[in-house]
Amino acid sequence: LVTAVILVAAGSGQRLGYGMPKAAVPLGGETILMHALRGIVASGVASQVCVVLPEGDDGLRAQCDAFREELADGGPLLTAVDGGATRADSVRQGIAALMDGIEAVLVHDAARALTPESVFHRVADALAAGAEAVIPAVPVVDTVKTVAPAADGDGTVAPEVVTGTAARGNLRAVQTPQGFRAATLRDAHQAARTLDPEQAAAVTDDAMLVEMAGTPVHVVRGSTQSLKITTPLDLIFAEGLLEGPLG
Ligand code: CTP
Ligand code: MG
Repeated sequence: LVTAVILVAAGSGQRLGYGMPKAAVPLGGETILMHALRGIVASGVASQVCVVLPEGDDGLRAQCDAFREELADGGPLLTAVDGGATRADSVRQGIAALMDGIEAVLVHDAARALTPESVFHRVADALAAGAEAVIPAVPVVDTVKTVAPAADGDGTVAPEVVTGTAARGNLRAVQTPQGFRAATLRDAHQAARTLDPEQAAAVTDDAMLVEMAGTPVHVVRGSTQSLKITTPLDLIFAEGLLEGPLG
């Protein structure tokens, strides 16, 4: 399948707290963006890589331009576009910039900059085998419970009470790249435009939109190395991965 990767890198990185977009934050001597880009290209799955950048970020755009020069002939087409207010808006910007003839799309978070090539391959292979949608995931190590605010009076003991415990064996922590047939992703994101703001805010990944359309979403094995760099602690983990035997 002729495949594109949309790399969403337009977030502001509030929780990382570097005062700059997360994609621009240094990791092992390069930016998070460059690690993510190199990983995608090394996997060899993409005919096009569409990078979605913070609007007006000339520094990150220059890094994309330099990387385009660095790519040998026969490498993927590298496209850079401006992102939107939400992650879903940024994905839609990427979809709009896909070249003609793209049959499959992998949507990937720049924040998962150290995703192993093997994960890209498992996702691409499932699409090639006929899946319309496929996500990488790992088992959940923590016990996960739902909670609600404590009832009046009980709030003096603790702020929340447990309302249920999920069966851990059925839970998965979901990662990116998430893979879709191009038409499936386009339709799902088109439909998402009609969600009200509250519903839209509850959409945290692309697969969720496909699930809403009733399309089966297949699951392949992710990797603990695909951690989403979100907080300063995650950046310490990522630096360690680069230095350690797994890097
Ligand atoms: N993203 C994006 N456009 C947005 C918001 C997020 O392209 N408007 C991207 C981010 O760049 C990131 C991925 O979506 O690669 C996952 O988002 P997240 O980890 O939340 O990154 P940020 O939004 O940058 O971080 P924070 O929420 O802490 O500000
Ligand atoms: Mg965010």
